[in-house]
Amino acid sequence: MDFKFEIAKAIATAAGLEPTEVVGGIEIPPNTDMGDYAFPCFRLAKTLRKAPPLIAADIAEKIVKPDFISEIKIQGAYVNLFTDKGMFAKEILENVVDEKENYGKCDVGNGKTIVVDYSSPNIAKPFHVGHLRSTVIGNAIYKIHEFLGYNCVGVNHLGDWGTQFGKLIVAYKNWGSKQAVEEKGIEELMRIYVKFHDEAENKPELDDEARGWFVKMQDGDEEALLLWKWFYEISMKEFDRVYKMLGVKFDAFTGESFYNDKMAPVVDELKEKKLLIESEGAMIVDLEEEKMPPCLIIRKDGGTLYATRDITAALYRKNKYNFEKCLYLTALDQNLHFAQWFKVIEKMGYEWSKDLVHVPFGLVSLDTGKLSTRKGNVVLMEELLNQAVNETKKIIEEKNPNLPNKEEVAKQVGIGAVIFNDLYNGRIKDVVFSWERMLSFEGETGPYVQYTNARACSVLKKAGITEVAANVDYTLLADESSAEVCKLLADFSNKIKDAADKYEPSIVSRHLVNIAQAFNKFYHDNPILSSEEDVKNARLVIVYAVKTVLTTGLGLLGINAPEQM
Ligand code: ARG
Repeated sequence: MDFKFEIAKAIATAAGLEPTEVVGGIEIPPNTDMGDYAFPCFRLAKTLRKAPPLIAADIAEKIVKPDFISEIKIQGAYVNLFTDKGMFAKEILENVVDEKENYGKCDVGNGKTIVVDYSSPNIAKPFHVGHLRSTVIGNAIYKIHEFLGYNCVGVNHLGDWGTQFGKLIVAYKNWGSKQAVEEKGIEELMRIYVKFHDEAENKPELDDEARGWFVKMQDGDEEALLLWKWFYEISMKEFDRVYKMLGVKFDAFTGESFYNDKMAPVVDELKEKKLLIESEGAMIVDLEEEKMPPCLIIRKDGGTLYATRDITAALYRKNKYNFEKCLYLTALDQNLHFAQWFKVIEKMGYEWSKDLVHVPFGLVSLDTGKLSTRKGNVVLMEELLNQAVNETKKIIEEKNPNLPNKEEVAKQVGIGAVIFNDLYNGRIKDVVFSWERMLSFEGETGPYVQYTNARACSVLKKAGITEVAANVDYTLLADESSAEVCKLLADFSNKIKDAADKYEPSIVSRHLVNIAQAFNKFYHDNPILSSEEDVKNARLVIVYAVKTVLTTGLGLLGINAPEQM
C-alpha cells in the first residue's frame, strides 16, 4: 500500500480536490510528536480561498480516516496524522514478506526508455577518479530506473576518436616499441603521449603530422586504423578489469569512433538548416544570442570534434532507442560543452532536445597527497580498488578472523565502501577520499550498512530461519523503535522514485543509513531471540524485512550485501 497516497485520497476527498493535488504536500515530520504524516494546508489557500488553519479544521472534520490512521490532530495549518502502529506494521511488513526482493518496485517507467551515457573514459588517456564517479553514479542511476520499470540502455561513449590518436600514432612511431606497449599497456601509451606533448612544444610540425594521421584515420587509411585498433584493445583490456571489479556492465560500447561515418549527413543537415557558418576557416554554429561561445563543428583542417560526435550520437540514439530521456554523466566542468550542443539540437528543430540531460557531479579530493603525486590513470584505479580490498582484509582479520570466504567478503566490502563513499553526498558536492572514514564500520558508510545487513542475517540464522511467517501478532510491534523502522521501510519506494526523478542516488544511500540506524536502535532496545515466542516471531519479521530492504537498496547502488562479515 502507498500510505502517502491513501492519506492524500482521504484528505483530497475531505477538501473536494483530486489526490494528485495533495500527495506532493504530504510530509513525514522529523519529530513524531507532530504525527507520522502531516499535511500543511498553506498550499491549498489559493485554490480554496480560505485561511490555511480553517482548511485544516475543515479537513479534520470531514475526513474519513484510513484504517491505519488512529488519530488526527490539527496544529495551526497542519493536519497531523498518527498511525495505528500495529496496523501500520502489519501493512508494511506483510508487504515486504510477500514481495521480497521486489518490495519497493513499481512500474512508473513501463514502456519508457532511458539512455544512460556513463563512465566513457578516453582510450590511452587517464581513467581518473572522475571517470570512477561517472561509472558509479551512472550505474546506480541505471539500476534505480530499471527497478522502476524503465527500459535502460547503458552506453559507454568511449573517447576512442579524435586528434589525440593522431598524436599517439606519431608518438608511437617516434618513441614507442611494440614490446613496451604490450607489456605495460596504457601506462606506456600515456608515457609516449606525454612525451609527444613535451616534444611538440619546440617542434610544432609534430602537431601537423598528428593532425595528418587523424585525417587519415577518418578517411579509412589501413595503417592508421590498425594502430588505432590496437591502442583501443590494449586500453579496453584494462578498463574491463576495472569494470569487473566494480561489477559494472554496459549495453553498448558505441564510442566516439562509432560515429565517424555518421557525421557527414548531420553536417549536411546543419548546412541545410542554415545553422553552419564559416569562421576563420572552421565551421561553427553561432550561439551568440544564447550568450555562449560558438559550437565548433569542423576544424580548419577538416577534423571533426567532440561536439560533432555528441550531436551525431544524440540523433542516432533518438532514432534507435526513442528515449524518454538521455542522461550524460560527467564532471561539472563539461557544463558548457553540453549546454552548447543541446542548444544546437534545439536549433535544428528537435523538440526532444529538452530530453537531453547533463547530470554533472563534483570533484574528488584526496585527504592524503599520495594519489595526487602521480597522475591518476587506469592502473591507479585498479591499485586504488585493490588497496580498498586489502585495507578491508586487515579490518576483517582483526574483527572476525574466522570468517569463511574472507577474500570474497573483503572485495565486496572494500569496493562497496569506495562506491558508497561516492554516492553518499549529493552528486554535485565534492567527494573527499579518505580511507579511514570510508572503510569505517561505524558512521555513514557502506561497510556500516553492509554490517547492519549482516547482523540481521546472523539473527535470522541463529533463529534457524531463512523465511519468516507473516501471520504474527503485529500489535507487539507498537513500540517506538519498531515503529520507526516500519516507517522508514514504508518510505523506501518513494525514496527510490525521488532518487530517479532527481538523478540522485544519494537519496537512496542516505535512506539506507537511516534504516540501518533505526534497525540498530531497534536491535538494542528489543531482545529478539530470548523473548517469548510470539514477541520473538513478530520481531523476526522486522529483522527479515530490514535485511530484505537493505540488500535491495545496496543492490540499487551497485553494492553487494554479504550475509556475514
Ligand atoms: N570521454 C569524455 C571524458 O572523458 C566523457 C564523455 C561523456 N559522454 C559524452 N557523450 N560526451 O571527458
